[in-house]
Amino acid sequence: MHNGTTITQFIIEEQRHIQGASGDFTSLLNDIITAIKVISNVVNKGALIGVMGSAGSENVQGETQKELDVITNEIFIKSNEWAGHLAAMASEEMDDVYPIPAQYPRGKYLLVFDPLDGSSNVDVNISVGTIFSILRCPGECATHPSAQAFLQPGVQQVCAGYALYGSSTMLVLTSGHGVNGFTLDRDIGEFILTHPNMTIPADTKEFAINASNQRFWEPPVQRYVEEALAGKTGPRGKDFNMRWVASMVAEVHRILMRGGIFMYPKDTKDPAKAGKLRLLYEANPMSFIVEQAGGASSTGRERILDVQPDGLHQRVPVILGSKNEVETVISYHKD
Ligand code: AHG
Ligand code: MN
Ligand code: MN
Repeated sequence: MHNGTTITQFIIEEQRHIQGASGDFTSLLNDIITAIKVISNVVNKGALIGVMGSAGSENVQGETQKELDVITNEIFIKSNEWAGHLAAMASEEMDDVYPIPAQYPRGKYLLVFDPLDGSSNVDVNISVGTIFSILRCPGECATHPSAQAFLQPGVQQVCAGYALYGSSTMLVLTSGHGVNGFTLDRDIGEFILTHPNMTIPADTKEFAINASNQRFWEPPVQRYVEEALAGKTGPRGKDFNMRWVASMVAEVHRILMRGGIFMYPKDTKDPAKAGKLRLLYEANPMSFIVEQAGGASSTGRERILDVQPDGLHQRVPVILGSKNEVETVISYHKD
């Protein structure tokens, strides 16, 4: 039995500090929270409700869609299209922008999301998540929302968050005043503030990278990992530990809880791709959260939040986590 702060209470109280806030944003977040609760339930029921396996289709990036990729995308759209806060949505699972249908009012925000991150893990019952980012709709975009309206650098995000469907379901949020974590109490159907003011320790001895790509990495990342592996007697003078969940949400959550560095760097595997992760709905929201928690996030050459997007599904190299360790990797890029 707890008597904690519910997420709705938290958002309303936070909104009181923002001058001119109309309640629109609170209401939008509430719809996102509803979507996340529905997704949590569907992911949790899994094979019991016949939602596992492949959907037999591909997304715009040529990745095979899981049944759950398609279902969770639909859940997000249905929860968020009706209320009048959004002009349009965009997601990993849709080729183009989804303008709010004509029968609903349009609002001043844009929502971009990865409905199911780490979906290759879903069939094996390993943690997956949802990532989202809220942007303002610039100019007259509410009448004609185009892909162009979404191409804003990450510094312009109004809010970013992720849900982690792990051993418990958590929601971690920032709207530019620190990072707070909420845990879903299934019995009462509410997210309760359990992790106020999350911060990332500046130092770490834990790194995360898909080492099967090693031969494709650039020299700075080769050097960083080689030195970490050399341990106490190597140039870094400390032993490192390694983790790779293959769900970015789980990886970032671990880093928020105990520090660490996560890398999906630029590689030469497919020269047409600058990295694997997508800027608008993976790298930007996660970078906003990580920076707000005192960590750092970079491509190796540039702060991710400063990257000017040139496409809805643009990819970007990602190096994020404990500040001093990310700085080390950046410095190797300068050498
Ligand atoms: P998604 O399931 O949304 O396509 O994203 C998966 C991403 C990310 O969550 C994870 O860090 C990375 O892909 C894992 O990639 P590898 O399979 O190359 O390890
Ligand atoms: Mn993803
Ligand atoms: Mn996904």
